[in-house]
Amino acid sequence: LHINGGQRDLTAEILEAVDQEAEVGTSTKFPQIPQAEIKAALDRLASRSMVEYDTKDREEVALTKEGEEIASAGSHEYKVWDAVRQAGRLSLKDPSLAGANAKIGQGNAFKLKWVKKDGDALVSLTDSVQDATREQLQCAKENRTFQDPKVQKDFMKRKLVVPQKVISYVARKGPKWAMEMPVEVTDLTAEMIADGSWQTANWKPYNYKAEGAQLSGGAFHPLMKVRQEFREIFFNMGFTEMPTQRFVDTGFWNFDTLFVPQQHPARDLQDTFYVSDPPEAGPPGPDPATDEALAQMDDQDEQDENDSAPASAATRAKDISSKLDYQQYFNNVRSVHQDGAFGSIGYRYPYNDAETKRLVLRTHTTAVSAYVLHRLAANPRPCRYFSIDRVFRNETVDATHLAEFHQIEGVIADFGLTLGGLQAFLKRFFRKIGVPDLKFKPAYNPYTEPSMEVYAWHAGLNKLVEIGNSGMFRPEMLQAMGLPEDLRCYGFGLSLERPTMIKYGISNIRELLGHKVDLGFIEGNPAVRLDRE
Ligand code: PHE
Repeated sequence: LHINGGQRDLTAEILEAVDQEAEVGTSTKFPQIPQAEIKAALDRLASRSMVEYDTKDREEVALTKEGEEIASAGSHEYKVWDAVRQAGRLSLKDPSLAGANAKIGQGNAFKLKWVKKDGDALVSLTDSVQDATREQLQCAKENRTFQDPKVQKDFMKRKLVVPQKVISYVARKGPKWAMEMPVEVTDLTAEMIADGSWQTANWKPYNYKAEGAQLSGGAFHPLMKVRQEFREIFFNMGFTEMPTQRFVDTGFWNFDTLFVPQQHPARDLQDTFYVSDPPEAGPPGPDPATDEALAQMDDQDEQDENDSAPASAATRAKDISSKLDYQQYFNNVRSVHQDGAFGSIGYRYPYNDAETKRLVLRTHTTAVSAYVLHRLAANPRPCRYFSIDRVFRNETVDATHLAEFHQIEGVIADFGLTLGGLQAFLKRFFRKIGVPDLKFKPAYNPYTEPSMEVYAWHAGLNKLVEIGNSGMFRPEMLQAMGLPEDLRCYGFGLSLERPTMIKYGISNIRELLGHKVDLGFIEGNPAVRLDRE
């Protein structure tokens, strides 16, 4: 045996065998080795023309379980005769004569004149028998074939043997016969060109049959595929995408302007990630990056309205900001919390200005919606905005919760909107993702009144499951921004992870997001299509 790094070196063994015998049949020479391994070794040698080989396709017989049993313990007729011989007289009712095999054995033993009936018992007719069935099977086991094809057919009919296709190889010396694998040159060097040795080098032939290495390219994450489906639905319904690149926001946009009281438990450290460095931002004001992105998104609308070339996005963004009075806005928000205003009695607690400047990882994209809505004060008009992006919550990580997830959020502003209109819209929206029947449950959000949780029937779980949250933004929130009294606004939100996990059949969120994700799954997962209307 040639052992190479713990592995048997088959090529060396084949070379040795071929050196000794002109023709080497692999099934007899290497009976224990799977033919696939032998073929791999032969191919290595044949690709260097050291050996040649032919493939032999042969039919053999193999013993069935019953055949094996007879080969080792004797035929059914032998067992009957042996029992009779040992007993002298064997009652026909003896348990050893019961069963299908004993019946066949009895019949055969009669035919062979090994036993005969004597009253209600069997007696033996001979002192010794030749168990031909057993002998033929033993012979077939060793030779894997029968000499007489008629006998083979008979044994096959009796289900004592089955045919078996066997592939083996016959190897012989090839045109470049050698006992050692020659060192083959694979790289051309400057020296080889200079000294001419490339002309006589033993070049490794190019293997055109080798499969190339798997090419890897970029792949979309399932969340991004489902996000794209939702984006298309929003675009088709006339929504504009909000710029959501501001992951870090202030207490003002994330909480205060949304009427979330400063003592609200969601603001506690266990729910909100506060940024420690820098710990605070300046007073509420315009964010030029978001403003410009917003103006860019509105470009199309502007162009539809104006045939003349529009001003640049940056210019238009500044133009809008110049019409907004942030000091007034801030005072309004403080009044709403502390004293009540715009018809609201307020929370009536001493408002702390410092809380508004605290930097947080945004806990919802409603912070962005609020920012986008307040810019409407410069030019109040009906509009629809959506966003799909990350939010962060300091939650205990488990199978369905991570400290960050994606929110799908939409806002619709228009004059004279009603709650019935919000329900109708949500039904239409969810029908487009294949969720036909909605139920609404009254809920509470600090920034919407009324608020409704959205439920849908889950056929698999056989119950109603919550799929979203919605409401009409409070008048004291919108009017504090400087929006007119009759401009109303719907808002709704849902997670992107939930529909994605359902679509891809994932039960643990950590298989979808985070450091435990299997990159093979991300690269190989199929395209997704929501059951759009
Ligand atoms: N911000 C809400 C949430 O976190 C969703 C929502 C958005 C609800 C807008 C009402 C209006 O679930």
